[in-house]
Amino acid sequence: MISIDPKDQSVQDNYKLLIGSIIPRPIAFVSTLSEEGVLNAAPFSFFNIVTADPPMIAVSVQRRNGEQKDTARNAISRGQFVAHIADELYIEAINETAANLPPNVSEVEVAGLKAIASTVIDVPGIAEAKIRMECVLEQALPLGGSEGSPSCDLLIGRVVHFHIDDALYEKGRIDAIGLRPVSRLAGNDYSKLGDIFTVVRPS
Ligand SMILES: Cc1cc2nc3c(=O)[nH]c(=O)nc-3n(C[C@H](O)[C@H](O)[C@H](O)COP(=O)(O)O)c2cc1C
Repeated sequence: MISIDPKDQSVQDNYKLLIGSIIPRPIAFVSTLSEEGVLNAAPFSFFNIVTADPPMIAVSVQRRNGEQKDTARNAISRGQFVAHIADELYIEAINETAANLPPNVSEVEVAGLKAIASTVIDVPGIAEAKIRMECVLEQALPLGGSEGSPSCDLLIGRVVHFHIDDALYEKGRIDAIGLRPVSRLAGNDYSKLGDIFTVVRPS
């Protein structure tokens, strides 16, 4: 076994170990609204469930040269965002939104995606997504980095409304195959849902 103390290598090398090991990662496509009203959207694979009581999710937005990305800044200033599940049908468009565009340019328009009004919050969602979760920001935690200069903002959102494509929803459950989720590996690699198998938990 290779044995590594993260303190003995660079941030970039630790990053490579994390993104290559923690796979496949689900991808949240997150829309936010700037203070000026520009609809912003970007993908985030540092994404997961926090708790179901009440439903909460977490997205970790890395800072860029010490600066908050638009997603973090907007989510914090408005206290709202929409998380969408990335799927095979719009992953190319999602990827286009990850370009580093200025805050006054809407990635949603650039990628040719369609905005759709939310039910509970002011931030619109993306119509192409089969699952949308309207979120109210529960907490934004600046973490990591060095004293006074965190490396990321961990956004914890409380889901206040779910929107699910009729075709996927069966008695409260989601049809995994129909969702065709896409996940992130390292670098520019992605994966589709692989073979599904069942392991019954011991009682
Ligand atoms: C599939 C994918 C997953 C990504 N995951 C993350 C992530 O978890 N955290 C992060 O900070 N950036 C991530 N990025 C990069 C952001 O999407 C990118 O920096 C984007 O420009 C941020 O947009 P914003 O400035 O509008 O917030 C990812 C990019 C792609 C293509």
